[in-house]
Amino acid sequence: MKILMVCLGNICRSPLAEGIMQHKIKQQALPWQVDSAGTGGWHAGEQPDTRSLQMAQKHGLDISQQRARKVHVHDFDQFDLILAMDSRNYDDLLRMAPSEEYHAKIKCILPFAHGTSGDVPDPYYDGSFQRVYDLLDDACDKVLEQLLVDSE
Ligand code: 4NP
Repeated sequence: MKILMVCLGNICRSPLAEGIMQHKIKQQALPWQVDSAGTGGWHAGEQPDTRSLQMAQKHGLDISQQRARKVHVHDFDQFDLILAMDSRNYDDLLRMAPSEEYHAKIKCILPFAHGTSGDVPDPYYDGSFQRVYDLLDDACDKVLEQLLVDSE
């Protein structure tokens, strides 16, 4: 299973989602892969935002090796599940997909995890990194549970 976490800049939310999911995958010794990317490329090559780095560190995760990148057309082939942080990222991903056959692997993370609607709020301006971490930690548990049930 290869999972791609996607937000707008790939410096705040999706790096945290990648780090959290990576940790859970390791804990369960699953041979899965997780990566992250942004629908925009303005921050390509940068480390995660300092506030995401600190939030990860506070929870024992080191995401400092991550570097931002833009979603690439090959990602739609290479990943089995592409999880958007919010509905804007979701709409952008649908537009970026090479064809409609890829739409089924693109999901919004909170609805996919909980079966309800909802966005992971963008913390870039309002600094809501703790809320984002808590939402993602819970959502990643649910996503993992669901994928494990589906693979049985
Ligand atoms: P992210 O947050 O999509 O969670 O990485 C943002 C990062 C940068 C910008 C917006 C959102 N920006 O406008 O540069």
